[in-house]
Amino acid sequence: MAKVLVIGSGGREHALGWKIAQSEEVEEVLYAPGNPGMLEGKCKVVPVDGSKIENADAISNLIEQENIDLTVVGPEAPLAAGLVNTLNNRGHNRVFGPTKQASLLESDKFYSYDIMKEIGIPQANSMKCFSTQDAVNAIKIMSETEGVVIKARGLTGGKGVTVCDSKEEALTEISNHAENYGSHVLIAERLFGQEFSVFGISDGEQVSPLEISIQDHKPLLDGDKGPNTGGMGAYGPAPVASAEVVKKVADDIMTPVVQEMKKKGTPYKGFLYGGMIMTEKGPKVIEFNIRFGDPECQPGMMMVESDMYKALSYAVDGKLNEVDFKFKPGAACCVVLASQGYPGSYEKGLLIKGIEEAEQISAVKVFHAGTREVENGDGRFVTAGGRVLGVTGYSPAGISEAQKVAYNAVSKISIPGGWAYRQDIADKALK
Ligand code: AMP
Ligand code: GLY
Repeated sequence: MAKVLVIGSGGREHALGWKIAQSEEVEEVLYAPGNPGMLEGKCKVVPVDGSKIENADAISNLIEQENIDLTVVGPEAPLAAGLVNTLNNRGHNRVFGPTKQASLLESDKFYSYDIMKEIGIPQANSMKCFSTQDAVNAIKIMSETEGVVIKARGLTGGKGVTVCDSKEEALTEISNHAENYGSHVLIAERLFGQEFSVFGISDGEQVSPLEISIQDHKPLLDGDKGPNTGGMGAYGPAPVASAEVVKKVADDIMTPVVQEMKKKGTPYKGFLYGGMIMTEKGPKVIEFNIRFGDPECQPGMMMVESDMYKALSYAVDGKLNEVDFKFKPGAACCVVLASQGYPGSYEKGLLIKGIEEAEQISAVKVFHAGTREVENGDGRFVTAGGRVLGVTGYSPAGISEAQKVAYNAVSKISIPGGWAYRQDIADKALK
């Protein structure tokens, strides 16, 4: 029996650990640091914040003391900072996540742009700029396109992209952008079409995709209005990309990228997230991320039929082709319940009621992202973050039913003053 360590503390990590714990081969799932909502079944939380690279030694000690068989890293920050390298150097080789060098696929947009260009992957036309003057010149050259996108080169927590309607707007925005995110930018052609995401597991050689596309809802308010957030809900399968399209993205885009990275001596093992846009000319890449999406992971894990421990375990061993990865029929829908004020400042410590009642509905799972346990509070929870819960419903009958299941569960859960949440998650699938 195996012990698995999940690094991170959000809804994504809860969903991963919840699914991994369903494996008959898993004895225990530990989360570092996790959150108290993850304390269920064979899971426990340990007080080491593995998402901070300065705790790499503590994580390594934990792996030894607890005799951990497989470590799964959720968030991008410790990956891009080299957590996997440090663990590998200490002799821990069963770690699922890319090394620092392979993480450049997300942490350096110039690197991912170059790789895609070298092997002819469809992406937005763009130019690498090393100074604001370069960027100004590029914007002028790009003026033939309908709008221009300014993208910071490095990691910006999803904030370093400015989509401009015109060349004039881009020329006005550029100095502001440089001040906030640095002068190295990609100036890209603006693409039009519905966005979708494809998630794959890579063993360094090939990519096995989740056979469904998952659509996130980044803006705070219904109808895609308001400021951008980390994601207010997600559902899958998204009709914009059929299972065939997803497979094509995995075979013709993700696998070639992974094979090219292997050739370059920086093999990529881990979750691979393709941020895609369905243009009139077919799917094009907007960006790659080196991790699972959050909240996308929550409906994603609800749809996985197979043993997730086994899949990830075979992937770290480079034997993904020996796994038959299966999915459930139907659909899943996740509605994020957030604190009023998110993505700005918000109050914490509000008592949450109704989680148990929601989970009594069949095929509902409430994943915890920002909760804290009330001291001596009989397992009651209070809010402790911006995105607090991911209320996720599944139905074999499809997205309309899955959406009803999720919103029925949402109606059971309350805090004083009410939640900030979207009432239209998955509506796009029903139009
Ligand atoms: P990224 O961080 O690269 O995923 O970009 C964040 C968001 O900016 C995406 O989800 C898109 O909505 C938008 N975006 C990025 N690149 C482009 C592009 N070339 N054309 C249109 N929209 C884009
Ligand atoms: N939900 C978007 C992301 O995880 O990047």
